[in-house]
Amino acid sequence: NPSLHTPLPSINSFYYDGNRLGEQGSFSWWGGVQMGPPDPILGVSEAFKKDTNPKKMNLGVGAYRDDMGKPFVLSCVRKAEAIITTKQMDKEYLGIGGLGEFSKSCAQLALGADNEVMKSGRYITVQTISGTGSLRIGANFLARFHGGPRDVYLPKPSWGNHTPIFRDAGMELKAYKYYDPSTCGFDFKGALDDISKIPEHSVIMLHACAHNPTGVDPKPEQWKEISDIVKKRNLLVFFDMAYQGFASGDIDRDAWAVRYFIEQGHNILLSQSFAKNMGLYGERVGGFTVVCNDAEEAKRVESQLKILIRPIYSNPPMNGARIAATILNTPDLRSLWLEEVHGMANRIIKMREQLAAGLIKEGSSKNWQHVIDQIGMFCFTGLKPEQVERLTKEFSVYMTKDGRISMAGVTSGNVGYLAHGIHAVTK
Ligand SMILES: Cc1ncc(COP(=O)(O)O)c(C=O)c1O
Repeated sequence: NPSLHTPLPSINSFYYDGNRLGEQGSFSWWGGVQMGPPDPILGVSEAFKKDTNPKKMNLGVGAYRDDMGKPFVLSCVRKAEAIITTKQMDKEYLGIGGLGEFSKSCAQLALGADNEVMKSGRYITVQTISGTGSLRIGANFLARFHGGPRDVYLPKPSWGNHTPIFRDAGMELKAYKYYDPSTCGFDFKGALDDISKIPEHSVIMLHACAHNPTGVDPKPEQWKEISDIVKKRNLLVFFDMAYQGFASGDIDRDAWAVRYFIEQGHNILLSQSFAKNMGLYGERVGGFTVVCNDAEEAKRVESQLKILIRPIYSNPPMNGARIAATILNTPDLRSLWLEEVHGMANRIIKMREQLAAGLIKEGSSKNWQHVIDQIGMFCFTGLKPEQVERLTKEFSVYMTKDGRISMAGVTSGNVGYLAHGIHAVTK
């Protein structure tokens, strides 16, 4: 479905069109720089800020809000910060790969503490600048060391930033079918068909859970078949796990696909973010993991990751990593965190139910079951671009043009208004 793609301008159009004359005809170094388009997601927030309607809603960015619509700092984070403050630690540079105790617990969280990979040490995890930084380090690593084709296969659609991340690193972007607009669900057959045709040794990107933007995840049985076919095609799997805990409310359940693939012998690449599940958005905490054949290979990969990272940002920031490591390694804080993740996921599930019920109450005769069935932070409503435009213009509800809404911005106070607006533009 071509409407699922946002066409990207060619890379050169961002930078230089050969004209170095400014408006008055005087020489300018940057006369040839053209105005670029606003970011499709962050641009929505800019438009939202300018709106004076008191009922306005920003459902563009995927950032969790409490039921009062306020940014939510987890209690476990506040407590970890207090512990860190009392320790009066220094602010020396971290190593290139980041805080060791963070990286280890980050890998453990994804793989499970008793995973054979953890025990044998055949992996390397480096601390990264949240999920985006992790994906970019991964993309750079692939561009430099992956011997196979340059092609990275993304689900159609995928998170909007995947394309520029891999493209700017020098990889080529391809896609496999994922979302079925006719059911607002997973196109399992389409995905298997497409994956079975991917050239051997290409890279395939899989969203570990809570797929962004569709909120549609494969079921365990479907993951098993995907794993089989990926193995047959000999593809290199890159898992993006930006929402561990946010899909089901359960950290282990959400990591099921990642662990299953490893069990099946896939030596995966893995990106993790603590932006959503610890609410550490602006702290920029994440991890990049390469599962290797053995510990010796992992050491060699580690050395090259450090060589890659050093000229980009030298070493990652420490504050967020200290917070995350303190939470993960302090039993009381860890259990508090698990409860809080569960609480966030549950509030979103409740909002999904209330939105679907609200639409029925408004008199909508459309099927809104997908609003309930989809999981994670986002709901792919199925709204067409013209309907999105009306919803924004007439109701001050801001969202991305593809019809995605962040359920995390919906509250008991505004869910009725949202249902009213959606019904008005879809009836
Ligand atoms: C699928 C996916 N991957 C990665 C990220 C990275 O986010 P961050 O860089 O804030 O950790 C996001 C955030 O929206 C995402 O949705």
